[in-house]
Amino acid sequence: MRLDKYVSHVSDLSRKEVKRLLRAGYITVDGEAIKDPSTYISETMEVCVDGEPLEAPRPRYFMLHKPQGYVCVTKDQDHPTVLELIDEPNKDKLQIAGRLDIDTTGLVLITDDGKWNHAITSPKRECKKTYYVTLASDISSDTGAQFAAGVKLDGELKPTLPADLEVLFSNEARLTISEGKYHQVKRMFAAVGNKVEELHREKVGSIVLDPDLEPGEYRELTEDEVLSVKV
Ligand code: URA
Repeated sequence: MRLDKYVSHVSDLSRKEVKRLLRAGYITVDGEAIKDPSTYISETMEVCVDGEPLEAPRPRYFMLHKPQGYVCVTKDQDHPTVLELIDEPNKDKLQIAGRLDIDTTGLVLITDDGKWNHAITSPKRECKKTYYVTLASDISSDTGAQFAAGVKLDGELKPTLPADLEVLFSNEARLTISEGKYHQVKRMFAAVGNKVEELHREKVGSIVLDPDLEPGEYRELTEDEVLSVKV
């Protein structure tokens, strides 16, 4: 990586500030003052600012209990975003690992680790997501079999991947899918003539929404939770 980019990334100094420090000889690489911002540096090199070694920041991982009314994007003109519920420094580096609709509640994972995010969201990884679904009508006896076989969603060429439906009450069920198509759960139930009234995500991979988190609250993931996602 370029020296100016690296220092600005790790230290949160702006590129302009970094250039000023470089010019003034405050930045050293392996003990030698370097003034050229485009100098290429590798991971093994020790970069110091004013004699203090820079350390790459630790990646961060959070789970949030998303309330209704929030959108899973970094910026939105009309609605509050889930990142507004996060009180952490350098929020511009945080990414939302998979979107929930504005009216969906439950587990949202947030990180600044791009590879980890990709392992959750890449369609190729088929990461399982479990939803608690409340429906407008009673669930038909053949819905489970239809979802297990795959249903054709409006506007899609291929049927959905096999999904697991656990019927809990006449109009409430737990559905586990391993894709994340736009409005997938709502469209799956629409495909079998039903309508989702409420949708709540309980689980992503093996990470379960912490029951101690009220809507709008978040916490850091434990090491085990982070490592449960194979990058
Ligand atoms: N499926 C949906 O339809 N909506 C969501 O928010 C998540 C999955």
